[in-house]
Amino acid sequence: MTNLKSSLQLGPASTALHADRVLESGNGVAPAIHQSVTHTADGADDFARKATEPSNDSFYARHGNPTSSRIARVIADLEGAESAQMFSSGMGAITTTVLALVRSGDHVIAQKNHYSATASFLSRFLPRFGVEVSLVEQQSTTTFAAQVRPNTKIILVETPVNPSMAITDLRAISDLAVAQRITTICDNTFATPINQKPIDLGIDVVVHSVTKYIGGHHDLLAGCVASSDNLMKRVWDTSMDLGPIAAPFNSWLALRGIRTLKIRMKQHNANAIALANFLEEDPRVARVFYPGLVSHPQHELAARQMQGFGGIVTFVLDSGYEETRRFVENLELCQNAASLGGVDTLVVQPAVMFRGRLSIDEIEKQGVTPGMIRMSVGIEDIEDLIYDIDQAMNLN
Ligand SMILES: Cc1ncc(COP(=O)(O)O)c(C=O)c1O
Repeated sequence: MTNLKSSLQLGPASTALHADRVLESGNGVAPAIHQSVTHTADGADDFARKATEPSNDSFYARHGNPTSSRIARVIADLEGAESAQMFSSGMGAITTTVLALVRSGDHVIAQKNHYSATASFLSRFLPRFGVEVSLVEQQSTTTFAAQVRPNTKIILVETPVNPSMAITDLRAISDLAVAQRITTICDNTFATPINQKPIDLGIDVVVHSVTKYIGGHHDLLAGCVASSDNLMKRVWDTSMDLGPIAAPFNSWLALRGIRTLKIRMKQHNANAIALANFLEEDPRVARVFYPGLVSHPQHELAARQMQGFGGIVTFVLDSGYEETRRFVENLELCQNAASLGGVDTLVVQPAVMFRGRLSIDEIEKQGVTPGMIRMSVGIEDIEDLIYDIDQAMNLN
């Protein structure tokens, strides 16, 4: 690596493969899994230094872990961040970041639509601790601007959003926040740094459910936060109290996954647009939500801030709740399972998924209708996916 360009100058595929090599002693091509929960110190001074140094990964596992440092380095470089930290889940990353940046009496602006657990954290959890939250329509920046108050500390956005695929204008939000000295956080799970780089657009902090595209194989639960060294120090301090730290084996699986992120995203992008086009032409489908379609109301914005439109296609069958359930049951190749972002195509009927956790009112506020399907388009051959969906839509 010493004769190569620095990893920040490498392209994303090379960065995903090599950015962490500088962190490993020894000459293993594949990374080691560091399971040790604690590390010996070279005397009292070394012990004291390791104990107090932020993110030191050779002291005690809640402070940091060498395998987690490697995947965090790769994500930081891909996102254009100074540093990053791994978490036990996407929700561990999101909640720790927000809690690191607010105190009682502060105000947070976020979107009306978010991933359901994020929405619940914002509307149920934060108010219990004296943090006020305003939820706004993400499609218009003026809705965010109208809510800014002297005590606003954070604007949290998620784009494209789960499951409606609405887009938030990242450059406009960051311009608004910089002028008001507000910290911006973007959940970049759906896009990944291959398709969208929020930090390049002025956003301060990027959070991920690594469980999704970065892991990519439906076999690990993890999260990540990437930002400036200063902000990451505050996130790390809070994580020391809360403790939602990534397990070394999950970090190792995430490293294995991220090596192929660019080629996987290329295939997800290609399959999703092909499927969205197929669905849009089919009379059995009432509506398709995919930012890559010209018919998406924010297609121009998506094209401006994204390099690819991602692998999630949401569509509404021209059918009711029960017929839509049958469509899902008819699928043979596509599997009915929660989560998204892996190599296998997964399908959910959001009305079913939300019903266990949210009231009907809350489900409707998320913009979910009975015939809605969220499809996480995998990397199968597109002809096989279209064949399966076509046969499953024969409901009579
Ligand atoms: C956009 C988004 N953010 C965050 C999360 C939470 O991630 P995790 O399940 O890893 O906690 C999810 C999970 O589906 C998600 O879709």
